[in-house]
Amino acid sequence: MDPQKITSDTVRDDFNDLVAVLHYTKAAHELGLWASERKLIERFFPDPHAPLLEAGCGAGRVTLGLWQLGYRRLTAFDFAAELVDQAISLAAERRAEAITFFVADATRLAATAPASALNPPYAGALFLFNGLMQIPGRERRRAALRELHAVTAPDAPLLFTTHDRDSSLTERALWRLEAMRWTKGQQDPRLVEFGDRYFEDEAGRTFMHLPDRREILEDLAATGWRHAFDAMRPEIARENHAARDFCDEFRFWAAHRACAKLRPLRAER
Ligand SMILES: C[S@@+](CC[C@H](N)C(=O)[O-])C[C@H]1O[C@@H](n2cnc3c(N)ncnc32)[C@H](O)[C@@H]1O
Repeated sequence: MDPQKITSDTVRDDFNDLVAVLHYTKAAHELGLWASERKLIERFFPDPHAPLLEAGCGAGRVTLGLWQLGYRRLTAFDFAAELVDQAISLAAERRAEAITFFVADATRLAATAPASALNPPYAGALFLFNGLMQIPGRERRRAALRELHAVTAPDAPLLFTTHDRDSSLTERALWRLEAMRWTKGQQDPRLVEFGDRYFEDEAGRTFMHLPDRREILEDLAATGWRHAFDAMRPEIARENHAARDFCDEFRFWAAHRACAKLRPLRAER
């Protein structure tokens, strides 16, 4: 790996950094679930007694939101230990100690999660607020989708979000300019693939891959997930000011775990 490229270590260090920890902890304490998340959770995870796995739980914004909605068999993980510590503290504060939290890498779940957390299979999985897209490299994002496939039951729903490079005329124009930079080799040398961004704001340093819709449809098909639904957040629910101020718009995706045999890794390159 080129030493200047962003790796998962870069992303984990950025999420363990104090600025990011404060940002996501504040969101977990004050914001809770967006209206759009709540609507889709109730649609795709109708049984509050079903065991659910949340990937990239951060400081517990979604996990504790699920708890508040009455979901009781919750397991959540993140690879940033500082954020998991915050999630555990918030769960204790809200008397939700029954939630299981652990530190693990979604791209190597079987190798990094405690064995007890992976058995029996989960009835559903969530990777919300773009965590999947914060994994550098398409093969590694596909690895995370495969790992979630491996720990879920047949037909289990998966809910996640991504940005969308084609979501507006402005986005399309900006990405056309970025494509020209890549053609000339003038892109930020730290980026791994076209569609990547690495920037700094009030949430700290952030790596994000912005896909187009086709890319995600291909990734789902290649990793054993059957596409069920996708829509941009404003098409799902009107969010309050706090939720709109917290982040820009993104696309929700729901898929179901298919039982079909996966295509071999080599065919994907
Ligand atoms: C934008 S934050 C969202 C946190 C939380 N879900 C929320 O909505 O506030 C994305 C999260 O994904 C986690 N993440 C990114 N890559 C990961 C990986 N490979 N394994 C586990 N967690 C990962 C990050 O550490 C971060 O906490």
